[in-house]
Amino acid sequence: MRIGILTGGGDCPGLNAVIRAVVRKGAGHGDEVVGFRDGWRGVLDADSVPLDLAAVRGILPRGGTVLGTSRTNPYAVDGGPERVLATLERLGIEALIPIGGEDTLGVATRLGEAGVRVVGVPKTIDNDLDATDYTFGFDTAVGVAMEAIDRLHTTGDSHHRTLVVEVMGRHAGWIALHAGMAGGASVVLIPEHPFDVDAVVEHCRHRFASGFSPIVVVSEGAAPRDGSLRTSSGATDAFGHVRLGGIGPALAAVLEERTGRESRAVVLGHVQRGGTPSPFDRVLATRFGLAAVDAVHDGATGIMVALRGTDIVRVRLSEATAQLKLVPPERYAEAEVFFG
Ligand code: F6P
Repeated sequence: MRIGILTGGGDCPGLNAVIRAVVRKGAGHGDEVVGFRDGWRGVLDADSVPLDLAAVRGILPRGGTVLGTSRTNPYAVDGGPERVLATLERLGIEALIPIGGEDTLGVATRLGEAGVRVVGVPKTIDNDLDATDYTFGFDTAVGVAMEAIDRLHTTGDSHHRTLVVEVMGRHAGWIALHAGMAGGASVVLIPEHPFDVDAVVEHCRHRFASGFSPIVVVSEGAAPRDGSLRTSSGATDAFGHVRLGGIGPALAAVLEERTGRESRAVVLGHVQRGGTPSPFDRVLATRFGLAAVDAVHDGATGIMVALRGTDIVRVRLSEATAQLKLVPPERYAEAEVFFG
């Protein structure tokens, strides 16, 4: 078969492991794999590269994506869907494996409904895709954030400062929750649970009183209950997502004023997305790639491979992209036990 593959949306550690697995597994079937450059942009512009065994040697531990990525939305481009269909037809692509988050897979869902054979692979450091227990990239991002928190504890304690760590995650607090719990944060603030500034101040004071300095982990999408500290510039991407960031420094300024202790903010940003994938992410990404090729050869379409427990299963793409997976209150309550 001739299989197309692309990586769309924000890059994330493990994308190359999927590409490698698709090519290696496909080679066993005698498949030809065609990589599209820069996500849906490459399909729109028929910008592709053949992917054979030699092309994927050595890429397993590499972060990012050898195919490049973009946040291009063909449905936001005049005549976009028609151009996508024309490219697939011209290149003789019999099945497409898009690797992405809710946006990339949302496009895949619509193309599947338009008759394209699609098998999606879920990725995002945010871990906010419903229908899969985990996306690859998340474990690596949490590891990076946890290491940062570990390091910040020692410098914060030495200087008797509050350190506010802003992490990514968009509208889901998974990275903050896991990194904060793993790193022993004094407070974790997530978008799903608008926070009370007074309570954060109290937790910081309590931590100082115990002889240690507070670490406040704040998710980029978190906001106070009273509507203060609005930080978004309002800029949006092709899928209409607002660009987040800035809550960490804004909160640090308030905490400094309210606690009378020096406060600094560390915005981890894209460091969380870069670099080599963790073992968990390499294995999950590899298993997703293998399962995607199996699905293609079984004639499946309009589906996404997903992790349920320890099994790789197939779910409807429409189900996978219908809603975001957010942190449930009971998971946040577990983290709250350690606040202060
Ligand atoms: O979805 C992954 C993610 O890293 C989010 O956590 C973050 O809000 C967004 O992408 C940042 O996107 P960009 O790299 O385009 O600024």
